[in-house]
Amino acid sequence: MQVFKVADQAEGGQKAYELLREAINGGAKTFGLATGSTPVTFYENVVNSDLDFSDKTSINLDEYVGLDGANDQSYRYFMNEHLFNFKPFKENFLPNGKASNLDEEVKRYDGVIDAHPIDFQILGIGGNGHIGFNEPGTSFDVTTHVVDLAPETIAANARFFENESDVPRQAISMGIASILKSKQIVLLAFGKAKAEAVKGMLEGPVTTDCPASVLQNHANVTVIADKEAASLIK
Ligand code: F6R
Repeated sequence: MQVFKVADQAEGGQKAYELLREAINGGAKTFGLATGSTPVTFYENVVNSDLDFSDKTSINLDEYVGLDGANDQSYRYFMNEHLFNFKPFKENFLPNGKASNLDEEVKRYDGVIDAHPIDFQILGIGGNGHIGFNEPGTSFDVTTHVVDLAPETIAANARFFENESDVPRQAISMGIASILKSKQIVLLAFGKAKAEAVKGMLEGPVTTDCPASVLQNHANVTVIADKEAASLIK
């Protein structure tokens, strides 16, 4: 894995944007996207650029069960606010958190991923090492699935909600097997809360205890970490 240490989230977002630009120049057409606080500066750079996505496809990693795009805590809403309202794509795919049949929705989303192989995947990382919402203990072989969010993930994401009890307890997430099929992966990590997870990802054994460690098995991963997130690595 290639590691870039950057001063802060602003520089990290800029670096990720430059990698995206290179990928597009190289022909990338399908983009795997993440939500949360980590990719915000990346999206700012993309929005302020001259890049055109009108013939491009996006596929998001995950969505909360029970929330639809009108809910301002849904990931669909986040993507509209941070990217899609400014940069129209040919198609935007996210799991449907309001699907009446979650088993069918999971199958549908696997079909979407199979039909649109991802060229460039942006990832954040949880403090517990999760990627997407693949929590510790999740098999590396799973594709899209319904996840019971770990207590630490619910606590971490409570900052976006009025009360911790408002945080959905489940999400639909792309699986690790699907993430690993992306041609290129760029993982961003900012802040002290990510330092242990970044160390486990880069220097620890490949283990489901730290889901991001599986990225050691992928041939094209770039990690962009600020000083704090990189503070425990050699
Ligand atoms: C978001 C996602 C998650 C986040 C991770 C970090 O789509 O899949 O894995 O990337 O929870 O979240 P933040 O960036 O809010 O620290």
